[in-house]
Amino acid sequence: MLFPVPSAEVFTQTLRDRRPAHSLPREFYTDNELYALDLQRVWYEQWIFVAHVAELPYPGHYLTVDIGDVKLLIIRGSDGVIRALHNVCRHRGAVLCDGERGMVRSRIVCPYHQWSYELDGKLAKARGVEDDFDRSVYGLGHAECQVAGGMIFVSLSETSTDFGPAATMFSDYLKPYGPENMKVAFQTTTVERGNWKLVMENNRECFHCKGAHPELCATFPEAPLHSGGGTGDDLIELKRIVDDCEALGLPSAFAASPDFQFRAMRMPFLGNAQSMTVDGSPGVAKRFGDLPTRNIGDVLLYHYPSTWNHYMADHAVTFRIIPTSATTTQLVTTWLVPGDAVEGIDYDVEALTSVWRATNEQDTVLVERVQRGVSSPAYRPGPYSPIEEEGVIQFIDWYAANMR
Ligand code: FES
Ligand code: FE
Repeated sequence: MLFPVPSAEVFTQTLRDRRPAHSLPREFYTDNELYALDLQRVWYEQWIFVAHVAELPYPGHYLTVDIGDVKLLIIRGSDGVIRALHNVCRHRGAVLCDGERGMVRSRIVCPYHQWSYELDGKLAKARGVEDDFDRSVYGLGHAECQVAGGMIFVSLSETSTDFGPAATMFSDYLKPYGPENMKVAFQTTTVERGNWKLVMENNRECFHCKGAHPELCATFPEAPLHSGGGTGDDLIELKRIVDDCEALGLPSAFAASPDFQFRAMRMPFLGNAQSMTVDGSPGVAKRFGDLPTRNIGDVLLYHYPSTWNHYMADHAVTFRIIPTSATTTQLVTTWLVPGDAVEGIDYDVEALTSVWRATNEQDTVLVERVQRGVSSPAYRPGPYSPIEEEGVIQFIDWYAANMR
């Protein structure tokens, strides 16, 4: 193990003894040692979504991502390849690049003593060394990095699980949307005062949607279709859009890994809505890729533990979470539009983003409300609804299996 943590056995036993289909015991949402264990067994082990290729359009573009104590530099090299380098100088360990994102011209230069690195991490120049100094062994460390459907995933694990099945699913579903030709229209970064599992649990159900999300519910069905539920007309409408879109060559059938770590599906919108905007009308005048029609609903993709996404004909809204402590989680929300769409002509940022900006704020209030409640010694795990919260049950089962 890269990062040993005490008390693991205690928590593992607690998970073994937990009541199935119930929320977790208090310490799983509040405890610092448990948080360290979450990092060790989930965040340092699993494939983590970090960014879109659209965020790094040119060589030298980079963004920084901290996962627990690990500091990464996601950078596009001179060869066009996107890599995940450790953002730590090989001289005396200074952090190399600051800020959330930026651009380096030809070399990454350490601000401390100016060792410099090629964009692929090789050490280019080192000051103050002997003539026979072997630069080849002082390149920047790498994490594994893969792109699927325009989404960049990294793995810090020394024994990474096979990302192939997830990559295939994401690539197949998103290929018709032309992910290599998208651009970022807007992005927000917030920190929710809630454990990362509460953020993911909240996202895995729409049981709360009717009471909390009036803007979202104008276009998005609250029925639990996304976790295999739903009845009556909702199921008929779901089958209709899946059949119609499959006939157009657009992957649409419900597909998930056996442990539900990742899943893809296509959801219909309500009524005649074509996009997740206030009135359901397109938020962008152009369409992604060569999509033949706007009436293709919403492709939903998630991958535990870090992302869930909505891809529509005209724009996409994607979400990335990374825990920043036992009780705080960073949420990055990104709105993607066709690469040739022009702001002010083809779309208006305010209109494009208003539904999900409102929904995010509402969800933050809910997550923080639960965090305050589960922090009370009076909190006891409660039962998830087997009808409305199957997606949460799937997530917590996956989490428990990985923690054991
Ligand atoms: Fe980077 Fe010294 S720590 S050059
Ligand atoms: Fe919500």
